[in-house]
Amino acid sequence: MKNVCLLLGTITLCFIHGWAPAWADSSEPQLPKDLTGYRHIHSLVINDKESPLFGFHHFYINETGWETFKNQGPFPYPEGTIFLGAVYKVEQDGELYNEGSGAVYTMMKKDPAAAETGGWLFASFTPDGKPVEQDVKTGCFSCHQPLKDRDHVFSSPLNLSLPLP
Ligand code: HEC
Repeated sequence: MKNVCLLLGTITLCFIHGWAPAWADSSEPQLPKDLTGYRHIHSLVINDKESPLFGFHHFYINETGWETFKNQGPFPYPEGTIFLGAVYKVEQDGELYNEGSGAVYTMMKKDPAAAETGGWLFASFTPDGKPVEQDVKTGCFSCHQPLKDRDHVFSSPLNLSLPLP
């Protein structure tokens, strides 16, 4: 039993060290198990294979951040807010463009301890939920950083004629 515990401890340690250089002092974000309580906030497609953002993007927010998102403030978003992007490849069939296979999940989780990245933990995951190793400061936050007055979030509510719940 002692061996197993030691072994598990080693694995956990390696795992944390291996893929989260920008928030080594913070908790490690996990992909949610399902989307219960999440709301779809919008979608977009970038159909340029050369773009780092190539794909069909569907964005979701959890309940914690919903009121702040809906009212567009006051910022910052409350701790525990999660924005999730589900990105698919683009599949063309004549004039129809649709989601192909799953490409990546992107995630921003509000955690004031992540001071170097605007109070957000940035992470991405493979379609089966495995964390992608990357430098999130240059690979993610660099793009989101300028949006300081919106707490580094691009998305805003869609202009629907029906009132939001
Ligand atoms: C090239 C610039 C760029 C890079 C790099 C980038 N993003 Fe974004 N991200 C965007 C833009 C632009 C949007 C909004 C797209 C839209 O809604 O129109 C966005 C939206 C998001 C959203 C939804 C919340 C929001 O801000 O609207 C999440 C979550 C997200 N990105 C996570 C990530 C993660 C994690 C990484 C690194 C793996 C990353 N992003 C890298 C530009 C970027």
